[in-house]
Amino acid sequence: MNVKSLCGKVGVVTGAASGIGRATAIEMASRGADIAICDLDRAGLQETAATIEAMGRHVYTHDVDVSEYDFVQSFADAVFGTLGRVDILVNNAGIGVGGALLDVPLEEFRHVVEINLMGVVHGCYAFLPRMRDAGNPAHVVNIASMAGFWAMPGMTSYHASKFGVVGLSSSLADELARYQIGVTAICPGIINTAIVRSSRMFGPNASKENIKRGVEAFERRGYTPERVARNIMKAVQRNRVIAPVSPEAWIGYYVQRIAPWIPRLLGRKVTKRAQ
Ligand SMILES: NC(=O)c1ccc[n+]([C@@H]2O[C@H](COP(=O)([O-])OP(=O)(O)OC[C@H]3O[C@@H](n4cnc5c(N)ncnc54)[C@H](O)[C@@H]3O)[C@@H](O)[C@H]2O)c1
Repeated sequence: MNVKSLCGKVGVVTGAASGIGRATAIEMASRGADIAICDLDRAGLQETAATIEAMGRHVYTHDVDVSEYDFVQSFADAVFGTLGRVDILVNNAGIGVGGALLDVPLEEFRHVVEINLMGVVHGCYAFLPRMRDAGNPAHVVNIASMAGFWAMPGMTSYHASKFGVVGLSSSLADELARYQIGVTAICPGIINTAIVRSSRMFGPNASKENIKRGVEAFERRGYTPERVARNIMKAVQRNRVIAPVSPEAWIGYYVQRIAPWIPRLLGRKVTKRAQ
C-alpha cells in the first residue's frame, strides 16, 4: 500500500495513549490520514487526540480494553459509522510481563496472552470483514516484538504472546493477499517507552534494583517510538510480512535464521548466571 500520502485515508491504532501507538497515530496523521484511536488510559488518549487535532486531522477516540471482544467490536462499529472506512489497522496495545514460567502466576500468563495476542485477534475479527468488503488496498500492522522470534529465559509469557502474533501475521498475510490487504508483524528491539516501567515482574529478578537497571538500559538505548513509527510506514510501503525494527532486532533476526543455536546457547548462559 502506498503510504507516502494518506490523504483521504483512515488509520486505526489500539493502545495509542502512549509510546509506539501514539507515535504511529501521529505519523499517519502527519501524512494526511484521519485517525481513530483507543486505549484504557483516557488521559493519555486525549493528549494524543489533541496533537492530531492540532494537525488539522479528524480524530475519533474510544475507551477500549482490547482483551474484551465486545469493546473492540463496538469501537469498530463506531469507527466505520463516523469515519466511514479503515485503510490501516494497527493492533498495537500491549503489556510487558517478566519472569520464568513457574514464577509467573497462571492468571498473569493468561492476562498477557489476552492483551498481547487476543487483542490482535480481536482487532482482526472486528475490523477485517469490512476492510475486505470495501475492496480498497489496505494494511494490517500487528505490533509483535523481537521477542516474537528470539526467545530468552525469564520472559516465557511475553514470548508466547509475541511468537503468536508473528505466526498469526505470517499466515494472515497469505490469506489476505488476494484482497489487496497486506499484513505486517512489526518486531521492535529495545524501544524507550513507558512499557519497561509498567511491566509486571515476577521471581528472583523482580527486585526494585533490577527493574531500575532495566529502565536505565532502555533510556540509555534511546531508540524512540517516533523512529519506530517511521519504520512501520516503511514496512507497510514495502509490504514486508515480518519487519524487525532497530539494529538489535535486525541482527537477532538474521542470527536466529542462520545459526539458531546461538540464541539457545545465550539463553542457557543467562540462566546459569542467574542461578
Ligand atoms: N518498548 C519496547 O521496547 C517494545 C519492544 C517490542 C515490542 N513492543 C510492543 O509495542 C507495543 C506498544 O508498547 P509501547 O512500548 O509503546 O508501550 P506503552 O506502555 O508506552 O504503550 C502501550 C499502550 O497500550 C495500552 N494498553 C495496555 N493494555 C491495554 C488494553 N488491555 N487495552 C487497550 N490498551 C491497552 C497502554 O495503556 C499504553 O497506552 C506493545 O505491543 C509492546 O509489546 C514494545
